[in-house]
Amino acid sequence: MKTIVVSVGGSIIVPDKVDYAFLLSLRKAVEAIAKKYKIVICTGGGRTAREYISALRKAGAGNHTQDIVGIDATRLNARLVASFLSAGKKVKANAEIPKSLGDIKELLQVNNCVVCGGLGPGKTSDGTTAEIAEYLGADTIYNMTNVKGLYTKDPRKHRDAKFLPLISHEGFHDMMAKVKEKPGQHFVLDSEAERITREKNMEVIILKGACNLQKAVEGKKFEGTVIE
Ligand code: UTP
Repeated sequence: MKTIVVSVGGSIIVPDKVDYAFLLSLRKAVEAIAKKYKIVICTGGGRTAREYISALRKAGAGNHTQDIVGIDATRLNARLVASFLSAGKKVKANAEIPKSLGDIKELLQVNNCVVCGGLGPGKTSDGTTAEIAEYLGADTIYNMTNVKGLYTKDPRKHRDAKFLPLISHEGFHDMMAKVKEKPGQHFVLDSEAERITREKNMEVIILKGACNLQKAVEGKKFEGTVIE
């Protein structure tokens, strides 16, 4: 059975408080997708990760310690999502959060859906999602964000920004180079995931909302940006 690999930003799961309505919509989409595919969801750490990391940075803690607390935040979100999915009783998600690529593969044998957070320090959840996709031989990663996709410019600052439904890896790479990446800065996909997917020629689908995820997976018309 083919595996669908999805990255879900922590800021979507817990924008301010837990987004219950989003989790319900995600569960509905996963239940539909699970009829045909296995699913791996990699969750981000969102605001919790950023706030905890920032406190430790201010206190003088090293990068490794900051990463570990970040990973813990991603794993807390993973546990929330996995347990939420299983609670619907229509799909089985993992009870334990995987710590390695091998764990994910093993858990996929006995679950419809495997939810994980970060797997090791010095990485990001988007980058980890790309690594998982490569490891499992998936040709696409689905990146769920809180914007509908990619624009020619920042749509919040430029009224003439145009939505881009399709862009090449090279075009996206050039665009990213212009957005100076500072720690904590947000772009639809981070640079690690951009590099892996470009080098491995993996398709990236950026979209907003569980309904669009389901449509994209089912090959229906959806709103989002395809990087290929
Ligand atoms: P995220 O990748 O979740 O950061 O990791 P983010 O982009 O701010 O989150 P979203 O997209 O809004 O959810 C948070 C931090 O956790 C550590 C890193 O320090 C990262 O900045 N981390 C995460 C790792 O060290 N390894 C991982 O695989 C994932």
